[in-house]
Formats: sequence, C-alpha cells, structure tokens
Amino acid sequence: MERNPFVLLVFLIVSSMVAAPIHCKKQTQTLGHFYERKMKRSSGIDKSGFKAVHYINKSRVHTQQGMKEKDRIEKLPGQPGVLFQQYGGYVTVDKAAGRALYYYFVEAYHSKESLPLLLWLNGGPGCSSLAYGAMEELGPFRVHSNGKTLYRNRYSWNYAANVLFLESPAGVGFSYANTTSDYDDSGDSKTAVDNYVFLLNWLERFPEYSIRKFYIAGESYAGHYVPQLAHTILQHNKNANTTIINLKGILIGNAVINDETDVKGMYDYLASHALISDETANGIEKHCNFAPEDDSESSRECDAATDEAGQDIYYVDIYNIYAPLCHNSSLTIRPKEPSVANFDPCSDYYVYAYLNRDDVQEAMHANVTKLDHDWEPCSDIIRRWGDSPSTIIPLLQELMANGLRVWIFSGDADGRIPVTSTKYSIKKMKLAVKTKWHPWYLDGEVGGYTEVYKGDLTFATVRGAGHQVPSFQPKRALSLIKHFLDGTPLPDTLNYN
Ligand SMILES: *[C@@H]1O[C@H](CO)[C@@H](O)[C@H](O)[C@H]1NC(C)=O
Ligand SMILES: *[C@@H]1O[C@H](CO)[C@@H](O)[C@H](O)[C@H]1NC(C)=O
Ligand SMILES: *[C@@H]1O[C@H](CO)[C@@H](O)[C@H](O)[C@H]1NC(C)=O
Ligand SMILES: *[C@@H]1O[C@H](CO)[C@@H](O)[C@H](O)[C@H]1NC(C)=O
Ligand SMILES: *[C@@H]1O[C@H](CO)[C@@H](O)[C@H](O)[C@H]1NC(C)=O
Repeated sequence: MERNPFVLLVFLIVSSMVAAPIHCKKQTQTLGHFYERKMKRSSGIDKSGFKAVHYINKSRVHTQQGMKEKDRIEKLPGQPGVLFQQYGGYVTVDKAAGRALYYYFVEAYHSKESLPLLLWLNGGPGCSSLAYGAMEELGPFRVHSNGKTLYRNRYSWNYAANVLFLESPAGVGFSYANTTSDYDDSGDSKTAVDNYVFLLNWLERFPEYSIRKFYIAGESYAGHYVPQLAHTILQHNKNANTTIINLKGILIGNAVINDETDVKGMYDYLASHALISDETANGIEKHCNFAPEDDSESSRECDAATDEAGQDIYYVDIYNIYAPLCHNSSLTIRPKEPSVANFDPCSDYYVYAYLNRDDVQEAMHANVTKLDHDWEPCSDIIRRWGDSPSTIIPLLQELMANGLRVWIFSGDADGRIPVTSTKYSIKKMKLAVKTKWHPWYLDGEVGGYTEVYKGDLTFATVRGAGHQVPSFQPKRALSLIKHFLDGTPLPDTLNYN
C-alpha cells in the first residue's frame, strides 16, 4: 500500500475512513488529534489536577414548570411504534450567555417508576452522545442506510434504566451558546459545571426523578467527564449537607484515565496484536517518555518510531482493529438489511443525514434557534480546550472512598484506549484484589473477563468489542449494564443466560 506522506506529520492520527469524510468529523479521529495536541509542550492545555467549582449561583437554576410536557416527543420521523416515552429539548445552563444544552431522554420499556436514572456521556472532547450513544450504541433506535427511517435496538439500555443522553459541552451537536466566544473557553472544568447545572435544572423539569437512584456512564474522553461530574455532585451534596443528587455510582468504558499509561498501553497493544513490529515497539519503549512531568520535546528517535507505528495502523480502524471500514458513504434509496448484531461501519453517515433533517429536528425540539452550522457527530466549532488533567485516578479514588460503585469496562478489540492501557491505569491504583480474574459468561459463551478490587472497583472486559462497546457487542453490553445497575457481580458460571 502506498505510504501517505501526510502521516509523517502526525502523531497518533487515526482514520477509520477510506471514503474521506466531507462533513463528518468522527469520534474516531477526534481523540487522536486531541492527544497529539495535548502531548506537545506548547499545547497551552492545563494538565494539573481537576478542581470542582464550589459555588454555583442559584440564579442558574430556574423553574421548569410545564416544560417537560413541551419536550415530549410524539414520534420520531420513520420510527417504529414503541410503548415508552421519549423527550428532547434544551436546558439553559447560563441565561446571560445564552448557553443551552440539548438532551434526549428515553424512559424505560418497563418499570420506569422503579428503575434508576442513567446519564450517558460520549467523549471527544467534542463528540455527541446523541450521535454515538443514542443512535449507534445503546439507544432504542438505529438509523437505516437511507438516512430516513429507524429500526429497533433489542439491546437498548432502556431495558435496564431510564436513559438520559446529553450533548455537552455547548458547541457539541445541538447544544449551543449565543455568546459564541464561549466555545473558546471550553475545557474539563467548565464542562463539569455546565453538566451539573444542567442536571439541577433537568431534575426540576422531571421532579419524579429527583430522588431516584442516579448513575453516570460514558466512554472514551468521558473517562474525564464522568468522574469530574460525580466529584462535583459529591462536593455539592457535602457542602449542602443534603443529597441534592442521589448519585450511586459510575461506569466508564475504554476511558481516558491516565495519559502516561493510556499511551504506553496503546503501543503495547499494537505490538501484541501484530499491528506494529517489535523493532518499532522497542524504539518507542527506549526513546519515548510519556510521563506528564516530562516537559522536553520528544526526541527524533521517538518521533521516528511513533511515525512508523502511525503508518502501520493508518488503514486499520484502530477503534476496532478487526472491524471492516466504510468504503461507500452514500445513502441508499432502499435501506440495507439492518443488523444490530453486525455493526455497519458507515453508520455515522446515516445518523448525520437523519439528524440534519428538518422534520427530525422539529420532532426532537432541536435547533430551535436555527444555528449557523450543521449538526455534526463531533464538533467543528470547539477549537480550543483549556484544561485536561493528566490523570483522573485521584477522582476515582475519592468516589470509591465515598462508597460509590465504580466500574471500568473495556472492549478488548479497541486499539485506541485498549485493555492494556486500562489495566496499567488500574494497576497504578495499587488496589487489593477481592475477586480474582475470571471469565464472565452470557449465553454459554465468555462475554469477557473480570476482576473485582477492594474498595468496590470492578474491571470488566467485553470480548470482541471495539471502543464503542454497545455498537459491537450489544447483548454483552446490556448484560454488563444490568449487572452494574443491580450491583451484582458478573456471572462466573457457564450456565448463566
Ligand atoms: C448571581 O447572579 C445574579 C444574576 O446574574 C447576579 O446579579 C448576582 O450578583 C450573582 N451573585 C453572586 C454572588 O455572584
Ligand atoms: C439565544 O438567542 C435566541 C435568539 O435571540 C433566543 O431565542 C434564545 O432563547 C437564546 N438562547 C438562550 C439559551 O438564551
Ligand atoms: C448535617 O446534617 C446532619 C443531619 O441532619 C446534622 O446532624 C449535622 O449536624 C449537619 N452537619 C452540618 C455541618 O451542618
Ligand atoms: C456507493 O453507493 C451508492 C448508493 O448505493 C451507489 O449509487 C454508488 O455507485 C456507490 N459508489 C461506489 C464507488 O461504489
Ligand atoms: C439548524 O437549522 C438551520 C436552518 O435550517 C440549518 O442550516 C442548520 O444546519 C441547523 N443546525 C443544526 C446544528 O442542526
């Protein structure tokens, strides 16, 4: 295959597309680009520890009377009939700046009064939970290849919970700020505050959920968002000496946890999965230093080795090393035979077409202010990111110390934040083992492997899944979330179904 000279310019660039995206900036590129920037000395990104905002002006929480009913979605265009309720709309998080976040909420198929509330966040930074989470991973519907009609996902997580998808921060998807200079102030801390203010307002709008057991889940860069939001909730509960939000636990998958181990684990995975040569891996081992305190520019030898690795993986979807690529991004007039079990690598294009339709936006109560840009799966308008701690391990430790359930899962075919990275990051926490490593089962098959640590941290792999675990292994992912929410260990017997 022809070597692409462009690849020499970049550090971790990843393109899963052979058909080059025109509009669609994909989740599969965003994180790679972000790392590339963050690892540079001159990035300007603040990498110090996360600090929650302690004071939130009460004027940011508004009465939400009557707004829930207005947000009810009768039916999405092209949607098959279902019996659960859906809602979508905006929550203003800063009136003065005109900043509002878009949410999509699906109530549970059964027992919505007793099942917990689960917030799902995608990463990026800058990628949409509607694009990925709702429409390609764990939501109730997937988009047909015609970009117009929907089909059911039998493994939707609203079989286990009432699921809330949030497009965050402002500038992602339908979420916006009228003060567009706000987009340049984006970063982890501001995202956490806005997400928290969003929740306070959303729970006013949906008061029946205000004391419900609440969990936060997410993948990829949401490895930052989820613990940061959880930390903020705990802080505010403590300061107020009352349970403002009834947070019980968090779940993060293929998550950005600790830069040094994340990057080292990535190269070790590429080497152990026959994607790069031993020479290249040795070169990286010998010449690269990914420690956050190492401020020197990387050496020529390190650059040469990582460039070599970049070339080797260029034509592989590094977010699922065994997955096919999307070779034709055109929509089809007649929908291709859909399959939840066999993920279509061109799905981003179908979702892009669907969510940019006027009738869809109207039905979802989205884009009410007629934004001047398209809906994108990953934001083009957030161009700067001010702060991103090099590690979130202290937050995970704090959540555990406060009795929250913490689960970390990993699709074992992801090469971007692979299982090796997550294992190295957990190892850094030096936790004592409670239940030693064993396979977990579903339908008489190994669903993955799990190890449970003292202090209540569960690590679980999902076998055969890439970065977006529920896209590739929907049934195993549903089993995982059910066990997480029930607080039951993953089954260690083959007879489990
Ligand atoms: C809270 O916000 C209101 C309205 O924007 C403002 O008038 C007030 O000064 C703020 N309070 C504090 C303590 O910042
Ligand atoms: C943003 O501006 C539009 C047009 O003036 C207005 O309708 C909308 O309510 C504003 N959004 C917020 C969150 O204030
Ligand atoms: C917090 O609330 C508990 C129970 O209502 C009370 O006993 C305690 O004194 C309070 N602590 C503070 C610091 O207000
Ligand atoms: C891509 O798919 C479209 C729609 O099915 C088809 O018309 C077109 O010929 C295909 N293009 C290529 C290069 O295969
Ligand atoms: C919002 O609507 C306008 C006008 O229809 C459209 O041009 C724009 O692409 C839409 N933007 C988003 C984010 O949906």
